[in-house]
Amino acid sequence: MSTPDVFPPAAEVAASAHISSFQKYEEMYGRSVREPSEFWGEIANDFYWRVPPAQPFFKYNFDVTKGKIYIEWMKGAVTNICYNVLDRNVNDKKQGDKVAFYWEGNEPGDATSITYAELLKKVCQFANVLRSQGVKKGDRVSIYMPMVIELVVAMLACARIGAVHSIVFAGFSAESLCDRILDSHCSLLITADGFLRGDKLINLKQIADEALKKCSEKNYPLKKCMVLKHLGRDDLICDGTSKSSPPCKRLCQNIQGNKQDKAKRAVPQTTWNPSVDLWWHELVKNASTECEPEWCDAEDQLFILYTSGSTGKPKGVVHTVGGYMIFTATTFKYVFDYHHDDIYWCTADIGWITGHSYLAYGPLANGATSVLFEGLPIYPDISRMWQIIDKYSVSKFYTAPTAIRLLMKYGEEPVKRYSRKSLKILGTVGEPINPEAWLWYYNVVGEKRCPIVDTFWQTETGGHVLTPLPGATATKPGSATFPFFGVVPAILNESGEELEGEAEGYLVFKQPWPALMRTVYGNHERFETTYFKKFPGYYVTGDGCRRDKDGYYWITGRIDDMLNVSGHLLSTAEVESALVEHSSVAEAAAVSHPHPVKGECLYCFVTLRDGHEFTSSLTDQLKKLVREKIGPIATPDYIQNAPGLPKTRSGKIMRRVLRKIAKNDRELGDTSTLADTTVINQLFENRCKTIH
Ligand code: WT7
Repeated sequence: MSTPDVFPPAAEVAASAHISSFQKYEEMYGRSVREPSEFWGEIANDFYWRVPPAQPFFKYNFDVTKGKIYIEWMKGAVTNICYNVLDRNVNDKKQGDKVAFYWEGNEPGDATSITYAELLKKVCQFANVLRSQGVKKGDRVSIYMPMVIELVVAMLACARIGAVHSIVFAGFSAESLCDRILDSHCSLLITADGFLRGDKLINLKQIADEALKKCSEKNYPLKKCMVLKHLGRDDLICDGTSKSSPPCKRLCQNIQGNKQDKAKRAVPQTTWNPSVDLWWHELVKNASTECEPEWCDAEDQLFILYTSGSTGKPKGVVHTVGGYMIFTATTFKYVFDYHHDDIYWCTADIGWITGHSYLAYGPLANGATSVLFEGLPIYPDISRMWQIIDKYSVSKFYTAPTAIRLLMKYGEEPVKRYSRKSLKILGTVGEPINPEAWLWYYNVVGEKRCPIVDTFWQTETGGHVLTPLPGATATKPGSATFPFFGVVPAILNESGEELEGEAEGYLVFKQPWPALMRTVYGNHERFETTYFKKFPGYYVTGDGCRRDKDGYYWITGRIDDMLNVSGHLLSTAEVESALVEHSSVAEAAAVSHPHPVKGECLYCFVTLRDGHEFTSSLTDQLKKLVREKIGPIATPDYIQNAPGLPKTRSGKIMRRVLRKIAKNDRELGDTSTLADTTVINQLFENRCKTIH
């Protein structure tokens, strides 16, 4: 592959950055791994502790051959994370009047905001409600809510009383919600009546009811379900900024839209079971807005978040209070180079780890002002993201490569309708970003002014582990660059030997950082097997990785997305990146496919840009392109037209499903996490006609 360009940090970003040079990064990094207790100890001093951390600051065992795997940071220290992200900002830092969240609804002009002082009151009030309903420290609470401020209120209220929240993304099905409630033995569900996603109305309460019915059938009846009235609420401010008429098209009583609008937004009947269901607004009515926090051990569980496992059954990733708090706060500060006057916007849903760490805990711990967006990137029009950036003067913007590629499809014009002059730093997360998307993000969205931080991490890692620092790191498009403080990566070969210098293999970590997951809920053995068994002494990420001659780390995709063609290790991500460089291709997914001679070969699915045609000349060009970019060994054997790709609701391509389609195998297994099942038939249909 040709050597990509290097982008040094912009001088004006470096000038005011916390870490203003690579040398400074190296000094701090060196110290963070040589003296982790001192390094994190100083950071911990910025937080409030009832009982401060003592030595040993952390303890761990990563080696299954030496006994049980465990990770502990600051055990014995006593604190409360909700107190640290709210009370400390309001009382000690006198930031009560600062906006914590600007909430932007699905409909333009539908907006409200909340200050730190107001958020603290709401959280205390709801924490009192939870307590009065019998929720105690250590109890698990399921939260199934749309992107509303009350979702943050619910999670922080749990944290305040020491209850463990288990947030389930509101796009998951009743079955998935039921499975998660059962697995974590939740005693209570918090949900909402419904919400709008683009022009689609989601009757969330109905799905929640189905989930609770399934729970009952499995002998696990939930006694309580708290329901937020989100549709039809009247506590929002119509700020009049919408260009549509009437300005506020929300589901409020005074809706004036046309007939179709009204029908689309008709409030659904909320099904009600009086012995179980409780309205949020009625519960909080008489609850006090003051609430003494539950003082927790640093190693008490803070939350469970389910992530998919290669075996199908999701794993309940457990994070604890103290380590997660200091690590999300520190990564947020340095990776987004946070300053007091920033307006930060992370587009991820709170139902995913990105939302937990970089919409809720990390920004709040820093006293930041964030945008919390309920809607979709291209609703009601393809400029929505850029309109929001201008509306709030967003300075730090964090999104996913899949969103960038989607927006890229529409070209530059929709971006250029808005100035984006407030932007300073752009971030990406979730999957390897192909250089073409990286460059579009950099050149078009950031107009070459804004450094891009490509942050590599996982639900399991709690926060960023490989990432550039915007004032210090020269970036290379597609590389997550270098480790964050306290993180020690290594690349191993199949026999578990550490590879030095330029190398490709398994990405592992050699020692824990504060926010590494502690266990799989209810199944510590699965934790040990999944992450520590293959290479004793290391945490195994499951990702492939390449280190180039300059020491940059390049994630090459999940190891299960690696393939071996005639004895050569190839990454499907690398092939995809080559394919999308073609001007006709919007998105590509490559999977491994059995081959009688080579062992495995590449089967590629390509989604074309609007107005482009799938022809045999195009497939020839694409094969040539891959040959040119990677080498003849990577030439795809099959290229198929894919008007749509099977994706999870978070936008990850389900390659497992694509592998089956390639094989014409209709036994697809669990497809409950698919965002749109209609693409499947289309792909099977396209299959036969288009094999080359
Ligand atoms: C997997 C983790 C971390 C929050 C969102 C996803 C992939 C994540 C990057 C990146 C290349 C990335 C990895 C990882 N991934 N970020 N910047 N470059 N790959 O969390 O659902 O736990 O997925 O996402 O494959 O293992 P997750």
